[in-house]
Amino acid sequence: MSSEYLVEVKDLKQYFPIRTGFMKTTLLKAVDGVNFGIKPGETLGLVGESGCGKTTVGRTLLRLYKPTGGEIYYDGELITDQNMIKYRPKMQMVFQDPYSSLDPRMTVEEIIGEPLDVHKLYSNSKERREKILGLMELVGLNAEHATRYVHEFSGGQRQRIGIARALAVDPRFIVCDEAVSALDVSIQAQVINMFEELQEKLGVAYLFIAHDLLVVRHISDRIAVMYLGRVVETADADELYDSPIHPYTQSLLSAVPIPDPNIAKSSKRIILEGDVPSPLRMPSGCAFRTRCRFATEKCSQECPSLTDRGNGHMVACWNK
Ligand SMILES: Nc1ncnc2c1ncn2[C@@H]1O[C@H](COP(=O)(O)OP(=O)(O)O)[C@@H](O)[C@H]1O
Ligand SMILES: [Mg+2]
Repeated sequence: MSSEYLVEVKDLKQYFPIRTGFMKTTLLKAVDGVNFGIKPGETLGLVGESGCGKTTVGRTLLRLYKPTGGEIYYDGELITDQNMIKYRPKMQMVFQDPYSSLDPRMTVEEIIGEPLDVHKLYSNSKERREKILGLMELVGLNAEHATRYVHEFSGGQRQRIGIARALAVDPRFIVCDEAVSALDVSIQAQVINMFEELQEKLGVAYLFIAHDLLVVRHISDRIAVMYLGRVVETADADELYDSPIHPYTQSLLSAVPIPDPNIAKSSKRIILEGDVPSPLRMPSGCAFRTRCRFATEKCSQECPSLTDRGNGHMVACWNK
């Protein structure tokens, strides 16, 4: 079966059983019915406050967790327990914290060489070394770096090592989970530029996860906004920033600092009331209603689904 999407998820669910007392467990619905598709060479940004389920979407999509429900397709083919091993190299992940995801006892060469060894991607040691050096060059590291250890590098360089490692198996899709969030703003821009250059050169698609909307706008073709396990709005990146419709997206955007003081003066900050509810005590109906200025009776009774407001701008809200 062919599909316009490289990666597609349909009604993806991930529930974690949590012990809430003696002999009592409650299901924490970390991801509860998420749908999206990512075309080859495209970037989908996934944003939302901490704890809304972004990492769980990424990990479940890569089958690092078995999904509680829903389907994951790669190139139009359903990924199952039986065939998932075939897709492992095609889909990789880059983490927020290269300090903890890279082994401190290994040299850069060993770190990047490991996936090449695992998947037997060379025929002799000369070819192995050439591949490693090629990957290092691709991410902007020098050949002299090959014999050094991770602790000898800055945060941005460590992230480059992590990316080279992910690229070693020639993936077509990479989940970047807060991949630049821990870096200084100036370094963030450099690493994001590198992600974009790699995309142009290699045609990889990204699911680019971040809590910072500014980071995501620049790199994303489309953006999905999550709130408590569900996507509440998705649109082309510029459309989402220029004309957000969901009250949650509007409040997130109003919290983003605006560099232009004239625009900043005329735009109002929308302060959200209350805290994010615990996912163990999810509000009935629309989960956002407890913090929403527009909430009505209907919002507590029924959860709205995403509906198309034109040009593929999808919003899940009864009142907007
Ligand atoms: N392995 C797990 N077991 C139990 N609960 C988890 C697990 N991973 C995440 N959660 C919970 O699922 C929710 C979503 O977490 P996460 O996906 O890490 O959110 P985000 O990446 O958006 O910050 C949180 O309430 C978190 O505590
Ligand atoms: Mg996370």
